Amino acid sequence: MAAAGSAVGLGNIWKFPYIAGEYGGGAFVLIYLVTVLLIGFSIMIAEMLIGYMGRKDGVTSFENLAPKHKHIWKYGGFQGLAGLFIMIFYSVVIGWIFHYIVTSLSYLPATVKEAETTFNAMLHTDIWTQLFYHTIAFIWITHVLTRGIKGGIEKVNMVLMPTLMIILLGMFAYATTLDSFGRAVNFMFEPDWSKIDSEAFVTAVGHAFFTLSLGMGAIMTYSASMEKNSNLVQNAFWVVFLDTTIAIVAGLMLFTFLYQYGAGPAKGPGLVFISLPAAFYEMGIIGNFFAVLFFLALAFAGLTSSVSLVEPMVQYFIDRFSWSRVKASVAMGLFFYLIGIIALLSNIDGYKEALTFGDKNFFDWVDHVTAAIMLPLGGLIMALFVGFVIEKQRVESILRPQLGFAFEAWYFSLRYITPVAMFIVMLSLMGVL
Ligand code: PHE
Ligand code: NA
Repeated sequence: MAAAGSAVGLGNIWKFPYIAGEYGGGAFVLIYLVTVLLIGFSIMIAEMLIGYMGRKDGVTSFENLAPKHKHIWKYGGFQGLAGLFIMIFYSVVIGWIFHYIVTSLSYLPATVKEAETTFNAMLHTDIWTQLFYHTIAFIWITHVLTRGIKGGIEKVNMVLMPTLMIILLGMFAYATTLDSFGRAVNFMFEPDWSKIDSEAFVTAVGHAFFTLSLGMGAIMTYSASMEKNSNLVQNAFWVVFLDTTIAIVAGLMLFTFLYQYGAGPAKGPGLVFISLPAAFYEMGIIGNFFAVLFFLALAFAGLTSSVSLVEPMVQYFIDRFSWSRVKASVAMGLFFYLIGIIALLSNIDGYKEALTFGDKNFFDWVDHVTAAIMLPLGGLIMALFVGFVIEKQRVESILRPQLGFAFEAWYFSLRYITPVAMFIVMLSLMGVL
C-alpha cells in the first residue's frame, strides 16, 4: 500500500498528461507503456528484492548483499539523493495545488483562456503566493517525516488513495459521456511517430522510472520492512498496474475536457491547472466542490510520494550517523526547501532570465536531470546488482517460486535487455542517436 502511495503521485495526474501532450500523444504513450512493461516491471521486482534481502537503508542494504565489494557498491545506495533533487520541484508543485484548493472554494475560471491567464499570472509573477504554499508544503512534509511512516502517513494513505481513485473514476465516467472522448482516445493511442525525436524518447523512458518510483531507493527502503515470505512479484504487479491505470485514466479524462472546452493538449506544466478548473466551471456550483475535492486528493497523492522521496535519505542519516529522526527530517527538508525557492524563482519574470541555461530554466533542468538521467541510471545499477552481484541461487530461491517458468525470462531481461536499453537511452541522451 505504501509503495502504491509512493508510485501514484504528481507523476500520474500532473506530469504524464502534460508531457504526453507536449510530445504529441500516441507514439510517446506507446514508448512509455512498453518501457513500463518490459523494463519497469522487472526493475521493480529487482529493487524490491534488494530491500527485502538487505533489510536496511539503501546504502547498508547494498553493503550487506555485496560484503566483498561494499566499498564500491555502497554508492548504489546514494541514489537516494535523486529523491531530494526531485523534491526541489515536487514541493513547489504541491504548493500550486494547495493554492488551487483554496481558490477553488470560491472561484473557478469561466473559460480555458481565463484559466490560462490565471495560472500564468501565478507561475510567472506571483512569488509570494508560491513561496507561501511551498513553505506550507515543506512544513507539512517535514512534519510527517518526523513522525515516521507508521505514525500517520499510512492511515492517511489508506483513506486518500481510495478517495482519489473514486474521484478520478467518477470524473472519467463523466468524460466518457462527452463528444470529445473519442478524440482523446485517438490522441492517446494513435501513434504519430513524426513527433518522436531523441528527447521525446528519453523523456518517455525517464517518465516510466519516475512514475513507478524506481531507481532512487524509495521502493527499496519500503521493501526493507516487508514481511518475510511476502510475494514480491505480486506486490510489484499491483503497484505497476495501479500506477499505469491511474495515469491512463487521468490522461483520457484531461484530454477529453481539453478538447471539449476548446484548448489544445500542449499546455505544458499548467495543463492540470488550466483545463480542469475550466471544466469544473461548466458543472456549476457543484464544480467548486469537485475542484476542491480533486485538488485535495491530488495534494495527498503528492504528499505520500513526497514522504517516499525524502525517507531514503532520512533513513540513511538515522542508520549511519545516528541522527535523530527529527534532525534528519529537518535537515533533508531544508535542503529541498531552500533549493526549491531557486526553482520557484526560475519561473518568475525578471528572475528566470538569469536562471535559464540553454533551452530550460532551473525548474525544468532539475526535472529533466532527475527523471531522464538519475533514475534510469539508478535502475541500471540495481539491475546489474541483482543480475550479476548477488548469487543467482539466492535470487532464485526467493523468486523462482513466485515467477515460475518466467524466472529465466526475468533474469535474462535484467542482465541483458535492461542494460542494453539503458545504454541506448544514454546514447540518445548524449545526442548520438
Ligand atoms: N512516482 C512518483 C510520482 O509519480 C514520484 C516519485 C519518484 C516518488 C521517485 C518516489 C520516487 O509522482
Ligand atoms: Na506515478
